[in-house]
Amino acid sequence: MGTGPGGPAEPLEVEDAAFWQGRMAAALADVAGAQSPEDLEAARVRHLGRHGELSLPLRSLGRLPEERRRAAGALGNGARGRLEAALAERGGALAAAELERRLRAEVIDVTLPGRRPALGHAHPLATVRRDMEAIFAGLGFVVADGPEVESEWYNFEALNMPADHPAREMHDSFYVQAEPRPGEPPGRMLLRTHTSPVQMRYMLARQGALPVRVIAPGRVYRRDDDATHSPVFHQVEGLLVDRGVSLAHLRGVLTEFARQLYGPGTALRLRPSYFPFTEPSVEADFSCIFCRGAGCRTCKGSGWIEILGAGMVHPRVLRAGGYDPEEVSGFAFGIGIDRVAMLRYGIPDMRLLFEGDLRFLQQF
Ligand code: DAH
Repeated sequence: MGTGPGGPAEPLEVEDAAFWQGRMAAALADVAGAQSPEDLEAARVRHLGRHGELSLPLRSLGRLPEERRRAAGALGNGARGRLEAALAERGGALAAAELERRLRAEVIDVTLPGRRPALGHAHPLATVRRDMEAIFAGLGFVVADGPEVESEWYNFEALNMPADHPAREMHDSFYVQAEPRPGEPPGRMLLRTHTSPVQMRYMLARQGALPVRVIAPGRVYRRDDDATHSPVFHQVEGLLVDRGVSLAHLRGVLTEFARQLYGPGTALRLRPSYFPFTEPSVEADFSCIFCRGAGCRTCKGSGWIEILGAGMVHPRVLRAGGYDPEEVSGFAFGIGIDRVAMLRYGIPDMRLLFEGDLRFLQQF
């Protein structure tokens, strides 16, 4: 085949407009079909890459003589131009669609109601304890606490309960292997069976100062376990010592406590009782909070509910605490927090308070 100055005699296919139209149509179809930037790049490489369907024929134009090359080049370059424009346009459209998709996915509807985080709340015992503390704080009492691992001396002896005292049997105790704290009287150690030892610790810490006006809420332990007794339960101890304190003051304080706790109509009744650390001793009943004294199942028809033990502090206890019973007198009381909570919320079994069952606790 002669290629003189005029070039190949026969026209080549690259000199045919239909050839370029065909190549371009195929390329444009690929561009239009591209669904992603990756598809589009593949289409560009296929048609305009180094060995592309348009690149190769374009490169072959160099073999043509000047005149014919210019004519064929115009066709080829036109096709390339259109393809490049189509690639740019499709690229822009795909980018816009991608942006639109992301905006939609990330849209935040600020008018939607918020999702509330699950909030905890106070245990019914904590609520009742706080209420009781607030009432006594309003009456001038400060809050103190003492150790739960206690010595026999504080838990019993100093409270006028010597080793052979029958009242000790009612306090069926958990003993623990431990030594008394440095500087404290010798003896066995136990989980305190009541909050009354805090009376003694607090008086000794006051070193004779007056007045003593303190409450001591906390855990206590006894070897009991049934619907109305749990091996761990809670008391609030109260102690007031000053000159001229009488049973009337005890009555006044407890009446005010009853009214603030269960409502202004609540009545107080004192019955004679016995505790080794008080003389005289009383048990205090509140008028039944359910039937208001008429008689119901909770108060067993009596109209009264037993709430606490109390009395005038025994002279021996005052003396053990560093106070002179000839000079001062005092009253003390011990209230079961669990019982108050059971009454307030109508809880039938004390053990429910200690099981941590959320189905129970979430009702409060
Ligand atoms: N400590 C007694 C108990 O647990 C309750 C008690 C009764 C406390 C009379 C007192 C009191 O302070 O005066 O059974």
